Amino acid sequence: MKIIILKISVLILICLPISDGLTQTSGKQVFRNKGCAGCHTINEGKLIGPDLANITEKRNRKWLINFIRSPKKMIDNGDTLAVRLYNKYNKVMMPANDMTDEEIKNLLDFIAQKSSEKTNQQNTKQKSTATAYNANNFSTGKQLFTGELLFMNYGPSCISCHDIKNMSSLHGGMLAKDLSTTYKRLGDRGIRALLKNPAFPVMKEAYRNKPLTKAEIHNLTAFLKKAAQKKPGKQTAGVKFESQFIIVGLLGAGIFILVISLIWLRRKKHSVNDEIYERQLRTE
Ligand code: HEC
Ligand code: HEC
Repeated sequence: MKIIILKISVLILICLPISDGLTQTSGKQVFRNKGCAGCHTINEGKLIGPDLANITEKRNRKWLINFIRSPKKMIDNGDTLAVRLYNKYNKVMMPANDMTDEEIKNLLDFIAQKSSEKTNQQNTKQKSTATAYNANNFSTGKQLFTGELLFMNYGPSCISCHDIKNMSSLHGGMLAKDLSTTYKRLGDRGIRALLKNPAFPVMKEAYRNKPLTKAEIHNLTAFLKKAAQKKPGKQTAGVKFESQFIIVGLLGAGIFILVISLIWLRRKKHSVNDEIYERQLRTE
């Protein structure tokens, strides 16, 4: 009995200091796990969305809670501030978040706490200088995008969901946005942050446990940058592709019918009926 009491009191002693820092860590975890960090920094400048430093002082708490739960609802309802932000940030729709009051509270506390920490100005400046890319980065990025080169962690190729119309030689999926001008809209840091930590639910799911490596992100960013500098592909390229597609399709169907009919003919020749018929002839 004594031992049990001792064990319990030791446990309590161990847990006390942990619970102290719990709000902060769980707020931090929520910020990471819910993908906020993929689009927002606190005190390190804007990524895809605004820097959230001091946001709890700038906005009323109720507004923040509603907005974080469902930005789309706020925008659809015509909330002036939400609509203004949406337009300012290139009409990127921040995903909705199914979070408890507790989680949002911890999250906002974490943001407030982090906002008050002094930032390293030098560091921020360094991060925002443009990165240099070479031709190699671009071509490797293109191969990764199209799936010619596999990702190290076997994530799906980008082209299965995205198209880049600026590159008329590519014909990608239509599940997600055309990425021709994405680089211009999101910038180098925005693209990198997004690829490191895909924030859009479908894309996030596709790369769950299959993260892109640093080098892959570098090469893909180089490719998207180059794509954004190109002039949009001519419409005829698409038409030509479509007619090619139809021709290939028709040819394929023709070959298919030919093969089937050959098999059918041969089967007919060597069918049981044939043998019986021939036997019949012989016995006559
Ligand atoms: C896909 C990127 C993305 C993700 C993920 C994301 N946001 Fe946002 N967020 C945005 C964008 C873009 C805006 C600007 C408004 C808009 O476009 O709707 C924004 C706006 C905001 C605002 C309002 C800022 C202001 O100036 O009033 C808050 C607060 C916010 N986000 C918090 C969060 C939190 C908390 C999370 C994680 C639970 C999160 N965001 C996840 C992109 C994102
Ligand atoms: C399973 C499908 C899927 C795959 C695979 C995928 N994405 Fe996405 N991606 C999406 C969806 C969905 C969005 C959200 C925007 C939309 O609805 O188009 C998105 C958004 C983006 C955006 C932001 C676009 C913008 O302008 O707002 C970028 C950049 C992007 N993806 C790049 C990539 C790259 C690079 C790859 C390959 C490493 C990739 N994606 C693979 C589905 C996918």
